[in-house]
Amino acid sequence: MDGNGRWAAAKGLPRLEGHRRGAERLIEIVDACIDAGVNTLTVFAFSAENWKRPLEEVSGLFKLGEWILRAHLARLEKRKVRLHVIGDVTALPDFVRSPLQDVIKSSQDNTAFNLVVALNYGARQEIVAAARSLAADVAAGKLQPDAVDWAAVEARLQTAGLPDPDLIIRTSGEFRLSNFLLLQSAYAEIVFAPVFWPDFDKAQLQLALAEYARRERRYGMTGAQVQPPAQA
Ligand code: IPE
Ligand code: MG
Repeated sequence: MDGNGRWAAAKGLPRLEGHRRGAERLIEIVDACIDAGVNTLTVFAFSAENWKRPLEEVSGLFKLGEWILRAHLARLEKRKVRLHVIGDVTALPDFVRSPLQDVIKSSQDNTAFNLVVALNYGARQEIVAAARSLAADVAAGKLQPDAVDWAAVEARLQTAGLPDPDLIIRTSGEFRLSNFLLLQSAYAEIVFAPVFWPDFDKAQLQLALAEYARRERRYGMTGAQVQPPAQA
């Protein structure tokens, strides 16, 4: 969800106003994803590197996170959304960590839609943690080095149990992944939306989904191999 700050700056507004508008946009996009038949949406809300921002902005972001959770809880429940968090939540302030954990628990039987919020998340940090877990299991004799395969790695990622992303949308016209789901994105289609996140509305989502639908996914095979058989 990139571009809140630049959206605000372009309008002469404080950065936090951009974040507030971005948060409102997220609610709309969750609804639009459910309506479009998407089953899982992962949003990069706060990166492990975002702590480097001014304290006022960091605390403003957490306050916003707490507010949005509280303000839209009933709506999430109504739409049977299951909330997940990836990232190191132990470092988050208690006023946001505690309600988050409550909702993660209370929504765990919801199956209509997975909303995964990446908070204090970094893909390299996630990979390091998985490597440590593998090393510890090998050192303890619970796992043979030869038995380390992709399934063993994947099971130790924070996204274990969730599907890999089919589509990654990067807003704000930047062309990079910025430490987001680096392993899970191996075969993801990437769409770069030329608008700041607060301007990423339902119509923008439809454009991204249409672009995704035009892509041919081959997973290393030839086009002929992956083409569905021609309809009679
Ligand atoms: C939102 O946009 C991303 C968050 C960390 C919430 P930015 O804050 O990165 O906006 P820009 O990139 O400065 O425009
Ligand atoms: Mg940014």
